[in-house]
Amino acid sequence: MRSHYCTDIDEKNIGEIVEVCGWSNNSRDHGGVIFIDLRDKSGLVQLVCDPADSKEAHEIANKVRDEYVLRAKGKVRARGEGLENPRLKTGKIEIVVEELVIENASEPVPFVIGDNSVGEETRLKYRYLDLRNPKAYETFKLRSKAAIAARNLLDSRGFLEVETPILTKSTPEGARDYLVPSRVHNGEFFALPQSPQLFKQLLMCSGFDRYFQIAKCFRDEDLRADRQPEFTQIDIEMSFCTQEDVIEVTEALLKDIFAACGHEIQTPFRRMRYKDAMEKYGSDKPDLRYDLAMVDVIDIFERCSNEIFSSIAKDKKKNRIKALRVPNGDNIFSKRQMKGFEDYVRKFGASGLGYFQMKEDGLKGPLTKFFEESDLEEIIKVCDLQVGDAVFFGAGAKSLVLDYMGRFRIFLANEMNIIPEDVFEFLWVVDFEMFEIAEGKVKALHHPFTMPKDLDAPIDEMESIAYDVVLNGVELGGGSIRIHKKEIQQKVFELLGISDEEANEKFKFLLDALKFGAPPHGGLAMGLDRLIMLLTKSESIRDVIAFPKTQRAQCLLTQAPSPVENEQLRDLGIRLREKPKA
Ligand code: AMO
Repeated sequence: MRSHYCTDIDEKNIGEIVEVCGWSNNSRDHGGVIFIDLRDKSGLVQLVCDPADSKEAHEIANKVRDEYVLRAKGKVRARGEGLENPRLKTGKIEIVVEELVIENASEPVPFVIGDNSVGEETRLKYRYLDLRNPKAYETFKLRSKAAIAARNLLDSRGFLEVETPILTKSTPEGARDYLVPSRVHNGEFFALPQSPQLFKQLLMCSGFDRYFQIAKCFRDEDLRADRQPEFTQIDIEMSFCTQEDVIEVTEALLKDIFAACGHEIQTPFRRMRYKDAMEKYGSDKPDLRYDLAMVDVIDIFERCSNEIFSSIAKDKKKNRIKALRVPNGDNIFSKRQMKGFEDYVRKFGASGLGYFQMKEDGLKGPLTKFFEESDLEEIIKVCDLQVGDAVFFGAGAKSLVLDYMGRFRIFLANEMNIIPEDVFEFLWVVDFEMFEIAEGKVKALHHPFTMPKDLDAPIDEMESIAYDVVLNGVELGGGSIRIHKKEIQQKVFELLGISDEEANEKFKFLLDALKFGAPPHGGLAMGLDRLIMLLTKSESIRDVIAFPKTQRAQCLLTQAPSPVENEQLRDLGIRLREKPKA
């Protein structure tokens, strides 16, 4: 029906007859001449309906209201002097309409397309209208380009795209499962996959050698700005590979994806051991666009005369005393602000936050009285303090201190406005610990199929061959070399407190597959939504998903989840304990 998309028309088309289709973004009558901004996926172009050019077209234009669907034919001309609109790509031209067709009318829409001041609830309820905004189209165009670039690179490297089941058994990635009741087997349930993890490992056992999938995953977990219950992974797995092979393919993949989206990135990425990331940045996904690294000062504090600090410093395995140097902090922040920071860290369990100011004549602050002069000198040295700096201290149990000091680091970076915007800072975090031990419970830090480096190491020190790729402080992807021997897998289940019975019930198929000649293998999965979020600098993951769920895991457009007919429940052998709320 069209000869051009709206924004494909420019000065080179002046004098040509063109045909365009789209929606009326708005129309206005200026002294008998009607101007319509016609919008399609590409953007806007101005239609001019002058009765002097076409009486019929002008009459039809008179009926046009916002969001009417139109088709127009006319001649491109330059806009008159002073009438150009530099904000529009097509701002130098307009189309003098000779024929106008209303393909469909529209009731008044609940919000003006592209008006982001409208509440998100309304925009999600009418998501198809929200997506009429050409800016949204650009996001999904980029997403499509990224996915195609990923497919092309992986295809060229010999990866086979294989779809794995959606109706399946629970795959432990640490979240709750979405369950689907079976009608044929009443009382039994499928779980939607939290990831294709086990199936991709089985494909390696089948000798497929290299697998990939742009896979939907489902996790019933607490939602945050970068989490959705239903999200997409670029999921890969390879056989006879080392960590280096997976890292190399991932970097090539990211390089091509970013290139397809107009950005050149440098590889190889930096690397950091998990332990170092935690100790220096209090996070397993540090944002390295800025430094603000923490320094260990526990030995110095052990010698101070403050009972609280010195007793914390005695147990160096369990506790930490960390210093965070803030360059120029003493000049930037008032004493009151520095005290106020304590309220921030208290929210995350800190009992307090000490600080020193670096003055011309040495360290000042409420804590200096507890230290010998030589120890104050030592603090200046290890923290590399310059006049005008401030330094903050966190002391207490290791995991607590690392957590709140890590958060405080990010908080400070935002307060100080030191995070560069147009930078992509990639990082590999490697040598993860195998287990996370909290309140006596042992959990896999990645997942239970990750290969330990040394199975005989003490459980709280055991490292795994696991790696995460981090971009600007966001965990973009994670993976590992897998356990390919049944005995090791059984031993890891045992360490995780999974009994033989439970292991057999949940993972018999995997344990069986491992006994029939499973090759060494490993892989990684990257969150496609998070990647696009970072590429488009979107604040919410919902902006990059066509039909997202809310923070409360609902689809406002379709009103899902929703109650079902009693008959349907009966077929499934399900009776609700309470009547669902209306
Ligand atoms: P993991 O659980 O680390 O690993 O997930 C990989 C990546 O998926 C993305 N992601 C999410 N994105 C949006 N919403 C969510 N709820 C969500 N959860 C995870 C993140 C994350 O880095 N099977 C392993 C991979 C492997 O070992 O190969 C896995 O799923 O970007």
